[in-house]
Amino acid sequence: MDALRIVMNRADARELYPRIRRATEQLCAPLAVEDMTVQSLPEASPLRWHLAHTSWFFEQFVLAERAGHRPIDARWTYLFNSYYEAIGARTAQTERGQLSRPTVDEVRAYRHEIDVAMMAFICESSDRELERAAFVLELGLNHEEQHQELMLTDVKHALGSNPLDPPYVAGLAPAGSRAAVPLRWLRCDGGAVEIGARDATFAFDNERARHRVHLEPFELSSRLVTCGEWQAFIADRGYDRSELWLSDGWLARTRLGWRAPLYWHDDATLFTLGGRRAIDPAEPVCHVSFYEADAYARWAHARLPTEAEWETVATSRAPDGNLLESARLHPAPARDAELQLFGDVWEWTASPYVAYPRFREFDGALGEYNGKFMSGRMVLRGGSCATPRRHVRASYRNFFVPETRWQFSGLRLAR
Ligand SMILES: [Fe+2]
Repeated sequence: MDALRIVMNRADARELYPRIRRATEQLCAPLAVEDMTVQSLPEASPLRWHLAHTSWFFEQFVLAERAGHRPIDARWTYLFNSYYEAIGARTAQTERGQLSRPTVDEVRAYRHEIDVAMMAFICESSDRELERAAFVLELGLNHEEQHQELMLTDVKHALGSNPLDPPYVAGLAPAGSRAAVPLRWLRCDGGAVEIGARDATFAFDNERARHRVHLEPFELSSRLVTCGEWQAFIADRGYDRSELWLSDGWLARTRLGWRAPLYWHDDATLFTLGGRRAIDPAEPVCHVSFYEADAYARWAHARLPTEAEWETVATSRAPDGNLLESARLHPAPARDAELQLFGDVWEWTASPYVAYPRFREFDGALGEYNGKFMSGRMVLRGGSCATPRRHVRASYRNFFVPETRWQFSGLRLAR
């Protein structure tokens, strides 16, 4: 794990740990206890489970590694282990919403006990001990941020499945209430490019090793596909024309009855975390599957970008938003915000989720974190409006099965 280890120092840990843990709890502030126990999809989890599982992660991978640690409750491993076969048996994911115990209050008490023990560890352990745990501590905080996004995703589905259309936060402003900027094509010369995380920053194992890829010249759309454009796709019978769809996509569309993105209603409204409102034609389309994104791209006489194409464009910008000399992009887009690369919607790519050359999974049970999912999933890039800002980066590889719609997933075009 040496090349992957980033030593989070004591001062960083003291500041970051409580801040990120608190942010998780603040996500529950607008909710009633009942909202936190619902599981509306097999692949989603009740918020109470997220609160407990993220705490269990620190207990299992940081505290339990210390001599003399006594489990806070040995039964919690069975309840709150997500998918680690090396750790043992657990509640089926599909049954997380069937348990009324432990209560939300008991889970909050468990979180508190973990936080007290973790802060004691962060403040009082020896330099050597802290350094040994630094990577897993950083991983635990990144894991917590992943679950923060999942909490918003899952609670949106729970509330959006309710005929009362209860908002998560009433009066939330629409994210896309601006006029759609005209679509432009950014031309990239291609050639030999490097993708993947650099050694000096925190990244998940699946973002490494950084490696060379050859790209043919390509063009990438300067912005995301909008709801207005999706309405045109629907009006042109996009959901009814099998020639636009991959075979598996057509089967999924038929079996699942897709006629529009998830959360869209027939009266041109959609459900958002702010409640139900009119569809804004300028906002990025969201909650579409890979199959729908792929069909749309074909309808638009384009295709989805590969993840290497996406990352090449995303890393062609310096932090100040200026184009880097090495970018070979024409014409230069005006500003980063205009490109919508980060923090709007996750962007489906045409790339299957597979290992990079020289991929090496995390050590021990944490080796199950990413590597074992490298089959039957597609890569998404960029981060969504639900992704914590600290968590967004150009090399980040999100991955879901192609039918997934409950994530904040949209698309941009390439050709
Ligand atoms: Fe997890």
